[in-house]
Amino acid sequence: MDGTTGMAGHSAAMLKACPDIRLLCLDWDAESLDKARDRLGQEGLAGTRVLFVQGNFCDLPEILEGEGIDMVDGILLDLGISSYQLDSSDRGFSFLRDAPLDMRMDRFSSVTAADMVNGLPEENLANLIYEYGEERWSRRIARAIAARRRELPFQTTLDLAHVIAQAVPRRFHGRHLHPATRTFQALRIAVNMEMDNLRNALNRLPACLSPKGRFCVISFHSLEDRMVKDTFRSHALLQNLTKKPITPSDVEISANPRSRSAKLRVAMRIDH
Ligand SMILES: C[S@@+](CC[C@H](N)C(=O)[O-])C[C@H]1O[C@@H](n2cnc3c(N)ncnc32)[C@H](O)[C@@H]1O
Repeated sequence: MDGTTGMAGHSAAMLKACPDIRLLCLDWDAESLDKARDRLGQEGLAGTRVLFVQGNFCDLPEILEGEGIDMVDGILLDLGISSYQLDSSDRGFSFLRDAPLDMRMDRFSSVTAADMVNGLPEENLANLIYEYGEERWSRRIARAIAARRRELPFQTTLDLAHVIAQAVPRRFHGRHLHPATRTFQALRIAVNMEMDNLRNALNRLPACLSPKGRFCVISFHSLEDRMVKDTFRSHALLQNLTKKPITPSDVEISANPRSRSAKLRVAMRIDH
């Protein structure tokens, strides 16, 4: 199962490398799944080998049951959002494009980034920005947001990005990192409950694997990587196969800078 199909880069690679596998392609985002279907179709890789399902990867046990599948031999989760989602002009993930403050991967879920930015108590907002964004200026940013929303609620990405940039002292504006980067990341993680989804998936998905089946997770955030590492070392059904995470080479990072913080860990379902 590719639990985070996105633009089907990994799915295509797996289907090409292993001509006799069948692949369950899952994504929460219906729009991304349509694109993946088109891409795999164009490359002649879709056909009967691939089953596309829109859903949350932590619901895999129910999804497999619904599809009449007992087990899968491998699970891949490549966490976060895709470049396609980040660059889509109307989704609200990017502080570089003006859009409604949305950030929901699943457009049927109810809470948007605007709801959080305009509704959360200042202290909760500060904690969220600190924890999920690892942002040292979290308190100042939350204060600035709270002051501005008393006058006028936030509606758009650029409006929020501007207020954040003003809250961060100028001399700390990095040359490569926009001052709103970490806050936007934190909001995205909170809106989509990414930590809860990962925690649930790590607990529930090993039971969906066949004996010796592999569980592979690529994470981009230190909190996520810690969760993956701890589960792979302690879950009763898993044996950890990667003592240290596998990270991209310098060549890969220069070809794809967004891979720079990726960490891949792999575990195997114990055979009993
Ligand atoms: C980093 S991208 C994956 C890119 C993909 N590996 C590729 O090759 O194009 C992450 C994808 O996971 C999806 N996603 C995030 N959380 C999810 C969840 N809980 N359940 C299912 N899909 C999820 C996002 O919608 C996004 O398309």
